[in-house]
Amino acid sequence: MTDLAPGVTQQALDIASRLTRAEKVRLTSGSDFWHSEPLEREGVTAFMLTDGPHGLRKQTGETDHVGLNSSVPATCFPTASALGATWDTELLEEVGHALGRECRAEEVGVLLGPGLNIKRHPGGGRSFEYFSEDPLVSGKAAAALVRGIQAEGVGACLKHFAANNQESNRMRVDTIVDERTLREIYLTGFEIAVTEAQPWTVMCAYNLVNGVHAGEHRELLTTILRDEWGFDGLVMTDWIATHDRAAGIHAGLDLEMPSSHGAWDKAVDDAVDAGTLSGTDLDVACARVITLALKVAAERASCTAVDVEAAHDAHHALARRVAAAGATLLTNDGTLPLAPAGRLALIGAFAETPRFQGGGSALVNPTRLDTVLETLTARLGNGGEVAYSPGYDAATGEATDAQLAEALATAEGADAVVLMVGLPLSYESEGYDRDHLQIPPAHTRLIQALTARHDRVVVVNVGGAPVEMPWAGAPNAILQAYLGGQAGGGAITDILVGDAEPGGRLAESFPVSVTDLASHANFASHPTQVQYRETLYVGYRFHDTFSVPARFSFGHGLSYTSFEVGEAKVTGRGHDRKVTVPVTNTGERAGSTVVQVYVHDVESTLHRPEQELRGFVKVRLEPGQTADAVVALGERAWAVWDTAAHGWVVEPGEFEIRVGLSSTDIRSRTTVRLAKGGEVTATVSPASALATDTEFAALLGRALPEPRPLFPFHYDSTIADLSQTAGGRLLEKILVGQVMKAFGGNDEDTAETRQMMEAFMRHMPLRALAMSSEGKVSLANLDRLIAVLNATALKARRSARG
Ligand code: BGC
Repeated sequence: MTDLAPGVTQQALDIASRLTRAEKVRLTSGSDFWHSEPLEREGVTAFMLTDGPHGLRKQTGETDHVGLNSSVPATCFPTASALGATWDTELLEEVGHALGRECRAEEVGVLLGPGLNIKRHPGGGRSFEYFSEDPLVSGKAAAALVRGIQAEGVGACLKHFAANNQESNRMRVDTIVDERTLREIYLTGFEIAVTEAQPWTVMCAYNLVNGVHAGEHRELLTTILRDEWGFDGLVMTDWIATHDRAAGIHAGLDLEMPSSHGAWDKAVDDAVDAGTLSGTDLDVACARVITLALKVAAERASCTAVDVEAAHDAHHALARRVAAAGATLLTNDGTLPLAPAGRLALIGAFAETPRFQGGGSALVNPTRLDTVLETLTARLGNGGEVAYSPGYDAATGEATDAQLAEALATAEGADAVVLMVGLPLSYESEGYDRDHLQIPPAHTRLIQALTARHDRVVVVNVGGAPVEMPWAGAPNAILQAYLGGQAGGGAITDILVGDAEPGGRLAESFPVSVTDLASHANFASHPTQVQYRETLYVGYRFHDTFSVPARFSFGHGLSYTSFEVGEAKVTGRGHDRKVTVPVTNTGERAGSTVVQVYVHDVESTLHRPEQELRGFVKVRLEPGQTADAVVALGERAWAVWDTAAHGWVVEPGEFEIRVGLSSTDIRSRTTVRLAKGGEVTATVSPASALATDTEFAALLGRALPEPRPLFPFHYDSTIADLSQTAGGRLLEKILVGQVMKAFGGNDEDTAETRQMMEAFMRHMPLRALAMSSEGKVSLANLDRLIAVLNATALKARRSARG
């Protein structure tokens, strides 16, 4: 056996040393969909891992990882895009505590979240489940949640590690990204969350990173995560992500989830015999599983019972506060807040049937559900009247002429119109990406018609991700309410009438058009590969560097009061500096704002974004009050990743510190000169936002990798790939039907649910057949099936050629 490896206790190591090889192998896979393997003989109980990031999804009946089957009632908090928009780490820590308490009450050992992948492109289907386009905001938000969850004695899980930024072909797409971009953009958030909050677990992504499956990536899982960042927890796969468990364990993986019912056991055993997997690596992986099981059991034994009903009440109230804190006021000519009196026309089916969470594994069964219709009607009471008309169908977003006409008639003569628009559930989900950023045409038509007839129209836009708003100038105010969770309806009412302030600031840019974005050139465009040719230029880093204005900038958000930012002063020495800036609430209401500190490198050997967020603080002030906002800047505020040296380097010279209320609303600038640092190795600088072939190859340090061909078929081929051949098409039909049945699909599913399920299934790699067949399809059977498919397809191709 080994010396104590990170994440392994002596007790666990002792237990592992008494196990047979077969037992060790079995421990590195789950026992079922949501549990680890127990070891009764040694008194090690199984622990439960369950979704999801913004609410507990504990299934007690049929299981699935795509949100199909029901789960126990739990508080559904706003999804990550709203949480990110709060910029409020204290509040997020409170959310973490609440999530942790609900897990404790349900005896869940590890909550599968937070997810903190970077929003490389706003069309990513899981944008609602991630915090930001910026690694600092993502990392700080994730760290806060992890701290809260784990303080309750429940493990958190950072996911999906790493470079998992699209849903299309997510289970086999190969992310091609240069080392500097990977470090500066895609890994920094994970690094912050690992080093600041020590999560108990990390989940590997489905995709490949530079040609290697994330779950087999030794550099990511061991060199960077453990050796460099000091992670001492357990690494698990994403659900059914295993491509080769032995290779995974060799790389630093500990636990395959869910159980593959022994599908990989023989291969792991053989790998130890063959010496391609060391016995020590297997020992360490299984000792880490035991360590976590013992930790979960010890926490459970020492924690106090949770009064679930009281917790649900308190958590609903917290969810309402958080939804308001993340709701972002994009425009306002003074129409908001509305007087809670008179006749308010409330238009839009989302007022009655709220869009409050996203589809897929994050789907929560809420304990209750606020609607804007009910809460606004109750708030107005006898002092006013709410006249409601749905205007469109909540599920499809489509409208008949009669629905539109009724909506216009309802709004006639109202003192103000509140129009709810946004993304229907089927527009955004885990499992597929959006192919455009528009809201349904009927919603746009309502905006146009109502703003043409009324002079007080407030648009409330719901949805988990940015949309294009060519109509942004027409309404008197736009509130971006995100997916506000189960209390989101109440929070919208609070903001509309001024009981709460809109606390959000965008943690992502809203582009004028998706085609403006450099990342759009290579997004979900090839089935087996995605090249991150925009390198560092994601989000505001793109907009600000290449002077392509966003419609609403990163960091933007209005308040019901106004703020003045004074002159920033920088103190400190060397690389450790402190930025202090006075902020005054110059309006008549109490309110909060987010002071953002960006750093601009005046002269740099390497190409750099125009400016990068290096610190922020949320400040709450009474009317007339002034307070100092203080932000600390350390080494990394100035550093770049030097690819040749494989390290962070601060290049001496001048840096401009910009303090503002958004990336384009800079209120104070000051310059510092750093005398000490190191030399940076020069690399190619792309001449535009998109690296050319030559530039990208130079940045990668190798020839451009060819995308893996779709034929011949292999383990990573998807069910959809089979449709290239006639026999494959038939098989595809049978398999999609079968797999959908296995994952709980039934005749009562709506068209939208079926659409989601089919997208999931079509992107499933063939290896998933063996892993989800409960032992019916062995890897050997799968090998034979693939050989037959290849032989048949080859024959067909030959005869087609004559
Ligand atoms: C998702 C994970 C989730 C897991 C379990 C996967 O499809 O990518 O985020 O935790 O399922 O439901």
